[in-house]
Amino acid sequence: MNILVTGGAGFIGSHTCVTLLNAGYNVIIADNLCNSKKDTIDKIKVITNKDVIFYQVDINQEKEVDEIFNNHIIDGVIHFAGFKAVGESVKKPLDYYYNNVLSTISIIKLCEKYGVDRFVFSSSATVYGNNAVPFKEDMELLSTTNPYGETKVISERILKDTSTANQNFSVAILRYFNPVGAHESGLIGESPNGVPNNLMPYITQVAKRNLQVLKVFGNDYSTSDGTGVRDYIHVLDLAEGHVAAFENLKKGVHIYNLGTGKGTSVLELVEAFERVNNIKIPLEIVDRRPGDIDSCYADTSKVKSELGWNAKRDISSMCRDSWRFETNNE
Ligand code: NAD
Ligand code: WQD
Repeated sequence: MNILVTGGAGFIGSHTCVTLLNAGYNVIIADNLCNSKKDTIDKIKVITNKDVIFYQVDINQEKEVDEIFNNHIIDGVIHFAGFKAVGESVKKPLDYYYNNVLSTISIIKLCEKYGVDRFVFSSSATVYGNNAVPFKEDMELLSTTNPYGETKVISERILKDTSTANQNFSVAILRYFNPVGAHESGLIGESPNGVPNNLMPYITQVAKRNLQVLKVFGNDYSTSDGTGVRDYIHVLDLAEGHVAAFENLKKGVHIYNLGTGKGTSVLELVEAFERVNNIKIPLEIVDRRPGDIDSCYADTSKVKSELGWNAKRDISSMCRDSWRFETNNE
């Protein structure tokens, strides 16, 4: 089976390509490399010892992407391509709506044109906004607080409307919680440009002494130790979730949380990182970051019962693998 993976050179996409190739799928990657590097494609080949077809293309360039559908028999699409920084989306909303929403429309149109009716979409726990934890797939999405989150809400809606109009369209919408970790080879992982916004990449930069101190955004939340609680999930568990979703695709739109169901506070994550890697992380408590919520973790009962998937890797593996990737990629 040939799977077209948009954004396959990125953090989650590259790990998913590895898992797909190891499961016997053929992979075609379409990525414009706006937030990734070409050598990731070679690393995917090294890890799997399998070949990958790569197109450097912007998914919004419909004519160029049309050629990919023309050149190959595509059996399904996993659509990762998009921008993902919440803060940046507040400053550049049009860039986010343009890139994330238009790319989703473009790729669905090509699926319709070429009769490709299996589709997996990267959504985010951010769509739950201020709902009460644990987040369940059937919650109403009332309070997304930033343009990035809104692009995911809109894309989900577009997929639902498309599947209502075309009864053969089978869609899995996957809402990821907080992906961290890296492949155990240390070859692929997350390497954000500039100063990281997310906690784990910030911790690894402090561990490397590229940054002096971790700023903990608030210790007055209503959580066990006052710091924010999140559902960190190993990126390889997430990748396996995509294969499970693809293999169990059914007609209509089906939404699944990809998280562990367990919350970890900022201080607990720092403590685990220090213990596993034997490195001290200097930290200071600062003000809350605007827009942050107390707690975010998944109800995973639906994904377990319908896809038979659950996350296997623990916080220690996440800390070990994140650090291995960082030290391998000086
Ligand atoms: P990433 O930036 O590492 O990967 C995205 C990839 O898409 C990059 O390789 C980038 O070059 C490519 N891309 C972006 N716009 C494109 C376009 N118009 N045409 C072609 N390629 C394009 O991000 P990631 O962490 O791997 O995230 C993948 C998906 O998962 C995104 O849709 C993101 O919104 C979603 N997601 C990520 C997280 C997270 O915390 N990492 C959480 C929830 C959801
Ligand atoms: C985690 C916790 C911070 C950095 C974001 C997006 C979400 C999804 C995943 C895409 C919070 C605290 C962080 C720091 C800190 N992405 N923190 N110091 O905000 O849960 O989720 O990434 O879909 O949509 O919003 O992740 O890693 O930024 O923060 O104290 O330097 O760490 O306050 O409690 P977040 P994060």
